[in-house]
Amino acid sequence: MGVVAQFFREILPNYLKNLPIPSTFGDFAEMTGKDWVALVPLVGTISFLIFVTARAFAPGCSDKKAACVNPDIKKNIEKVADTVDIEDIGEKAAFCRCWRSKKFPYCDGSHNQHNKNCCDNVGPLIIKKSS
Ligand code: FES
Repeated sequence: MGVVAQFFREILPNYLKNLPIPSTFGDFAEMTGKDWVALVPLVGTISFLIFVTARAFAPGCSDKKAACVNPDIKKNIEKVADTVDIEDIGEKAAFCRCWRSKKFPYCDGSHNQHNKNCCDNVGPLIIKKSS
């Protein structure tokens, strides 16, 4: 705990006190390369904190796996490709486009829960014979 206290009480204030922060926009033109380099840790840290904070509070899916298009299906192979004989389709077939179906490549309605969790609007590809 002593190291943390020392960092916030001594090291950080000394670092900030010695930063070449310009007082006016005109001062930017007078900064040397060494001055700019001295600002990199501060600007990098602030940028990282803004990024992490924005990401934590950004609206999005509560499901961590949702960031991946295919969260579960055949993850042990390099590429998922399915072939369905058109003669086997019958009058109508619904193919999954959300990658959440337990009957993949066919739709089982799992897209409804995915859409609810992720504010998404995906649905199946429905193929039917024309009459
Ligand atoms: S389950 Fe994936 S589109 Fe319906």
